[in-house]
Amino acid sequence: MSPTELISQVNLAARFRLTRRRTLDLCQPLTPEDMMVQSTPEASPAKWHLAHTAWFFESFILCEFLPGYQLFNADFPWLFNSYYQSFAAFPEKRLRSSFSRPSLDEILRYREYVDEGVNRLLSSNPAAEALKRIELGVNHEEQHQELLLTDILHAFFTNPLRPAYLPGAPGPGSPATGLGRWGGDLDFETWETTNPAAPVFQPFEGGLRDAGHNAQGFCFDNELPRHRVWLEPYSLAQRLVTCGEFAAFIADGGYRRPELWLSAGWDAVKSNGWQAPLYWTEANGSWNIFTLRGEQPLSRLEAAPVSHVSFFEAEAYARWAGHRLLTEFEWEAAAESQPVSGNLLDSGLLLPSPARLGETQFYGDCWEWTASAYLGYPGFKPLGGALGEYNGKFMSGQMVLRGGSCVTPAAHIRPTYRNFFPPETRWQFSGIRLASS
Ligand SMILES: [Fe+2]
Repeated sequence: MSPTELISQVNLAARFRLTRRRTLDLCQPLTPEDMMVQSTPEASPAKWHLAHTAWFFESFILCEFLPGYQLFNADFPWLFNSYYQSFAAFPEKRLRSSFSRPSLDEILRYREYVDEGVNRLLSSNPAAEALKRIELGVNHEEQHQELLLTDILHAFFTNPLRPAYLPGAPGPGSPATGLGRWGGDLDFETWETTNPAAPVFQPFEGGLRDAGHNAQGFCFDNELPRHRVWLEPYSLAQRLVTCGEFAAFIADGGYRRPELWLSAGWDAVKSNGWQAPLYWTEANGSWNIFTLRGEQPLSRLEAAPVSHVSFFEAEAYARWAGHRLLTEFEWEAAAESQPVSGNLLDSGLLLPSPARLGETQFYGDCWEWTASAYLGYPGFKPLGGALGEYNGKFMSGQMVLRGGSCVTPAAHIRPTYRNFFPPETRWQFSGIRLASS
């Protein structure tokens, strides 16, 4: 093994341990009962996330690469399979909240057992493919960290008590959150006095551009291959659309004017009774917004980016504002020269925050809906075997989102990262950036 390979293996081992630890840290504010809730078919219980992320390492790494590995439990390969049809059968997703057995204690033991196996593999001069898979497993677990928080926000919103995952404004002497450096403090008082100027639109020349990952370092298969795209000249808003701006859309009858909506979007408004973003509730003529920091008045979050809107709401808002949504390649061309930093999970805020002067919000705060359908790039090849089902089989009926959110681990996001969800999806931290031609 070369010195470079040794360093990257040591780094991977450290990243593996940190990632596994952080998943447990994120569960610290939760009770065992919280961890059983599955409040929407899109979501999964926290307890399932704990088990499934261990299942990934066991199924795709330990069983294939650790000689003599014994399954922790013969039922777990199918019980905690999510959607890999060619790997094993699996229970219906909506049944995950029925998994009172195995117990939480057993799942925590499963995680320890798998951790011990991966650490043993890492210290045994593993094959290059095994290291690649461990890196994939780490990235997979980071995706589930984000989902765990996204899902618990929905779970707590449906609870009549509306509990806060973390207290709204912890200060000196407030109880320990158990999140360590992920339990960042908030200064809401500053937010209330933040009065963002109208968004400035920055022009870009367009032209022939390269898009997609350059295959140096980790990426998912759907970011490859790098290829050329043509961009007409365009301009992008330098920050995300705020809650205050979106409230003006609502007040102007945005949800009652079919001319603003795509046909399928208007159908979704009518059939779902949408009148505001998910987690907005009206009381005595004013809006409240439910967050991982509990319920907050709109007046406090007016300058913060609007979140939990569907692609349809983002598209209707853009039309109302006289602009349009950006394409994924316009986003990538603009964002690739920016530092990959912002209000991501590591900031500990756990909700989108107002843009500071000059802050572009390309990374963090909210995933940005793009006008691009989620498709394979020219020459796209999914991973081999069952792992080919990771991304490729969803390339139908979904839209691309870019940039990460306030619950995306900072190590997880990059300029070429493609998230994807059906256009009616609202439970994600999904927001809006305007574009103009
Ligand atoms: Fe998964």
